[in-house]
Amino acid sequence: MTTTSSTIPTVNQDLTDWDFCQDPYPEMARWRRLGPVVYNEFADHYMVTGYRNCSRVLAAVEKFGSQDLEALFVRAFGGVTMEALDSQRHHDIRGIWSRFFQRDSLVSQQELVTDIVTSQVDQFVERLRSGESIDAIPNMTRAIPTLVIARMLGIDESMHQQFSEWSDAMGGSQEGAYDSTPEGRAILRKGADATAALNAYIKEVIGRRRAVGPGADLVSMMVFHDYAKEMAEQEIIASNTQLVFAGNETTAKLMATTLVALAQHPDQRRALAADRTLIPRAIEEIHRWQTLVQVLPRRARSDASEVDGVLVPRGAEVKVLIGAGNRDPERWERPDELDIHREPRQHLGFGFGMHSCLGLNLARLEVQIWLNQVLDKMPEFELADEIVYGRGLGLRGPKAVPLVV
Ligand code: HEM
Repeated sequence: MTTTSSTIPTVNQDLTDWDFCQDPYPEMARWRRLGPVVYNEFADHYMVTGYRNCSRVLAAVEKFGSQDLEALFVRAFGGVTMEALDSQRHHDIRGIWSRFFQRDSLVSQQELVTDIVTSQVDQFVERLRSGESIDAIPNMTRAIPTLVIARMLGIDESMHQQFSEWSDAMGGSQEGAYDSTPEGRAILRKGADATAALNAYIKEVIGRRRAVGPGADLVSMMVFHDYAKEMAEQEIIASNTQLVFAGNETTAKLMATTLVALAQHPDQRRALAADRTLIPRAIEEIHRWQTLVQVLPRRARSDASEVDGVLVPRGAEVKVLIGAGNRDPERWERPDELDIHREPRQHLGFGFGMHSCLGLNLARLEVQIWLNQVLDKMPEFELADEIVYGRGLGLRGPKAVPLVV
């Protein structure tokens, strides 16, 4: 039997509400118990809840697509990118970079990542040891992924600081989107200006590569690829802009979340320090437990857009609650507990299906190298203040991680 929209359980929740965002899990667990799909009348969208159903929806692009959300990506990156394409064109564009981001190819990037991580961790630890209480985000985690991707794109070192500022402003506009005060509007404007400035700079870099010939960098890889002839200039610019942005806030927030999790669970931190082979699974468990991208937007695009017997009306906005999926008791025992010793099982933190994260191996590599150094150089640390989460579930993470040793 198919449940139609008139019989789908209804809730009323502002997903950007400050209190809700501090701890959305109890409420999302309640929604999961209501059914595979819940209608949220507050924002007129349908929310998908359990692990199995979230992954099914993400895999079924012919029923739940990203491409109808093109405007969202154009606003964020200045043009159409692979994330807004559900067709063969998506595979062709993704294919330009996919080999580079495979795990075995990234072995050659370990030294680069280690150098960047070392410089950031060392200066942070030195300040901590001098007795300061400092926020790990602006003083350590934030710069690492930006510097890594800047080097991979072959960006001139003199531009790295500017690059970080643009990337920060783009990331900041997440928060501005939920703030209707003049301050919120200013944050949004700053984000839009940063996207435009980064677009203009990438355009210049592309021009220089064309004039001089290809280098061993990601911009060249796209510009000189055969498929580039099929792409509009703005698509090439936006794709490179997306690459700058997609991995920065996310990876830095995974590091920040890891610090919070390990400060709150000192026994697990000590077990990890004593047995480093646990690091890869610990990072995945932390990412499952405190998922960063909690919600993925899709649109129902067929008259058969159905989830576990529940029909979602064509054209409806759908929110795939991967944060709720990652705490599904049908998949994990004691899902609300952090347990780095768990047998690893795939979680949804990097998405699922054709749009699953292109950079997940790079993110894992960066966080693994970083965590090893953190455990070596500051094995004991504590939170110096209460942790507060930002508004919105698009990218959830602590606003600040003040630490003391
Ligand atoms: C912890 C860090 C990261 C997290 C949590 C994360 C999360 C995600 C998620 C959930 C998606 C799926 C989006 C969707 O289905 O609509 C995604 C896609 C994507 N990510 Fe990541 N990401 C991370 C790091 C990175 C890095 C380091 C890069 C590249 C340098 C990157 C590049 C991309 C790209 C290009 C896509 C679009 C893929 C496609 O549409 O085929 N991400 N990411």
